[in-house]
Amino acid sequence: MQDTGEWHALSAHREALDGVHLRDLFNGDRHRGERLVAETDGWLLDYSKNRLTDETVEMLAALADRAGLRGRIEALLDGEPVNTTENRPAWHAALRQPDPPPEVREELDRMAAFAAEARDGRWQAVVNIGIGGSDLGPAMATAALGAYADTGLDVRFLSNVDGAHFREVTRGLDPARTLFIVVSKTFTTAETLANAITARDWIAHAVGAEQAGEHFAAVTASPNKAQEFGIDADTVFAMWDWVGGRYSLGSAGGLSLMTAVGPDAFADMLAGMHHIDEHFRSAPWNENLPALLGLIGIWNRNFWGWPTYAVLPYSQELALFPAYIQQLDMESSGKSVRADGTPVSTANGPVVWGQPGTNGQHAFHQLLHQGTDIVPVEFIGFCRPNHELADHQDLLMANLFAQAEALAFGAPDAGDPHRQFPGNRPSTVLLGDQLTPRSLGQLIAVYEHKVFTQATVWGINPFDQWGVELGKTLATKIAAELAGMAEPSPTRDSSTQSLINRYVGSRGSVTR
Ligand code: F6P
Repeated sequence: MQDTGEWHALSAHREALDGVHLRDLFNGDRHRGERLVAETDGWLLDYSKNRLTDETVEMLAALADRAGLRGRIEALLDGEPVNTTENRPAWHAALRQPDPPPEVREELDRMAAFAAEARDGRWQAVVNIGIGGSDLGPAMATAALGAYADTGLDVRFLSNVDGAHFREVTRGLDPARTLFIVVSKTFTTAETLANAITARDWIAHAVGAEQAGEHFAAVTASPNKAQEFGIDADTVFAMWDWVGGRYSLGSAGGLSLMTAVGPDAFADMLAGMHHIDEHFRSAPWNENLPALLGLIGIWNRNFWGWPTYAVLPYSQELALFPAYIQQLDMESSGKSVRADGTPVSTANGPVVWGQPGTNGQHAFHQLLHQGTDIVPVEFIGFCRPNHELADHQDLLMANLFAQAEALAFGAPDAGDPHRQFPGNRPSTVLLGDQLTPRSLGQLIAVYEHKVFTQATVWGINPFDQWGVELGKTLATKIAAELAGMAEPSPTRDSSTQSLINRYVGSRGSVTR
């Protein structure tokens, strides 16, 4: 894309904005903050506090057209094989269609029946075992929708192979009343299998090996492997190969969430996702929330050169949202070759980080306000809380508005160099009416399609993740050596081998 006229025009346009402060842009245009916004169904995107003009938005829209974004969206939503390196669709949109494909409908019905049973009082706790996309989405959404969890069921998430995680997640649980849902698309992920085996032993120890299987369900694209593990076919749910792990919350990958909030709330979340799918398909670029977020992401990453951005939800319920976005964005966008195998020639995949406001203000906002690097921020907040403490909500939102204001406009020269607030630091605000299952679904889909918009401009395939494979292969070899099942590699570097030797010489079980 960087060889196109649209890209060159944007580069020149960006240079013309050198030295233009956000203060100038607002002072010269009294209605900028009302105009540079987009809305859909209870969500407002205010992008006016970015270093851009109306002309920038038009030029970015032209870039989107040049990249063929409209056609790519059709291909994505219609289930064409957009995941070219794995030759399959990335058809998460099918999961949330009002009239989904029959196999999807059937699985949703099976999930609803299973969830209804799981919620009827037999179980004290449901523990989701999975990692990456088989953990981050349901864990984030279950926390986000805590106000909608209408039974006493305690839904927990076990992901890390670190035994401390097993210890903490199972702390206080009665194995006789605990149900595990093992979520693994491949059913080969080492961390998940290790945790599932430990969970099975923990259950068997309490209720006997014959009964242990009743305490397990699985969600996978490899049902045979789940059954070999000892999980009855009746409680094995499908995850199709055309659903990527980090896009799988709307599939049976969200089963633990459904046990927490029930099938109706889950359906509302799917409806919210579908709303954004159709919005993405049809809204003009300058009214299209995911496309605008993505195009502004391109503008900030490629034309201003900022390598990182922060996602800051002013919502404790969205505490896990930044971690969820880290996988969604960084596993999708961190690529060094384009979909056609040629090397990329522009930067992509920004580093994403963040945590909820107001906590972050007392941790890292110092750097956002006065640091030498510019970090564009995406603020997320809501007009109505899911609690009765209205004064807390006012205080929370006052902080969101104040942070965006301070970043953009800074403060007049204070004399003291340490107290300078230069401002001109870009941010975007996503303001929702209320965090509900529907609005959460919308928020998730906005970010999914933001990532897709950027990938389309960069020409990369956002749906594969080959970069995670080498580490898995090496860990498997080292684990075999640690277990005494293999000899040390004679070609291994001296640092890695010395560290392994040191570990082997010092390892042991619990010492207190
Ligand atoms: O870390 C790589 C990855 O493949 C992710 O993309 C995926 O979400 C995660 O591992 C878990 O994979 P699985 O669901 O197959 O256990």
